[in-house]
Amino acid sequence: MKTYSIAIDGPAASGKSTAAKGVAKALDFLYLDTGAMYRAITLYMIEKGLDTRSEEDAKSILDKVTMREDKNGHIFLNERDVTERVREEDVTKLVSYACAHKAVRERLVALQREMAKGESVVMDGRDIGTVVLPDATLKVYQVASVESRAKRRYLEELSKGKEASLDEIQKDIERRDYIDSHREHSPLRKAEDAILLDTSDLTIQEEIDAILSLFHEKAGELK
Ligand code: CDP
Repeated sequence: MKTYSIAIDGPAASGKSTAAKGVAKALDFLYLDTGAMYRAITLYMIEKGLDTRSEEDAKSILDKVTMREDKNGHIFLNERDVTERVREEDVTKLVSYACAHKAVRERLVALQREMAKGESVVMDGRDIGTVVLPDATLKVYQVASVESRAKRRYLEELSKGKEASLDEIQKDIERRDYIDSHREHSPLRKAEDAILLDTSDLTIQEEIDAILSLFHEKAGELK
C-alpha cells in the first residue's frame, strides 16, 4: 500500500502539535510528537540528577531508556506514561540542551524513522523535513509571531489550571528558539522545499484545513 508522510516543523509553541494531531485524525494517519521524545530524554536525565548540558551524561543513559507513543498521542518512558509530566516547566527549561547532543539526535532520529516505517504519518518537530523525513510528501514550516505564540501557550497553561506569566513564557520561547536554531546538529531551519505557513492569525481549525488542502494538492500531483 502507498504511504504518505507530512512533516511539520517550526519554532516553539507555533501550534504544530495541535495542528498535526488534527491533520492525522482527519487523514487517519499515525501522529508522532518528536518533541515529546526529546522531552522524555530530558526528564530521565533530570530524575537521575544528570547534567543536560553534558554530552557524556546524555550518552550514558541512551541505552537505559525505551520510548513509545500510542495512538492517543501518549508517550511512555520505560513503559511509564509521562505525557503530562514532560510538559512541566523543569523539562521545558532544559530540553533544548539535552536535545542538542549528536548522540541523542542520532538515537531519536533512528527511532522516529523506525516508528514511521510502513505507515502514513504526520510528524512534528524541528528537523523532520530536513533530517528525519527528507522525502516527505508534504513539508510545512509553520511560523507565528512570538507574541501570538506566547499568548497561546499562556492560555493553554491557564486552561490547565496552572499559574503562568506571559512575560516569562515569551522569554522562554525566545531563548529556546535561539538555542534550537543555533545548535550545531540539525538546527531548526526551513527545508528548501517546505511550504511556509504563517499561523499568527489562524484558528486551529483554519490551520488544519490549510495543511489538509496543501497535502491533497501534493498527493494529487503524485498520482
Ligand atoms: O511544543 P513546544 O514547541 O514547546 O516544544 P516541543 O515540540 O515539545 O519540543 C521541545 C524541544 O525539543 C524543542 O524546543 C527543541 O529543542 C527540541 N526538539 C528538537 O530538537 N527536535 C525535534 N524534532 C523536536 C523537538
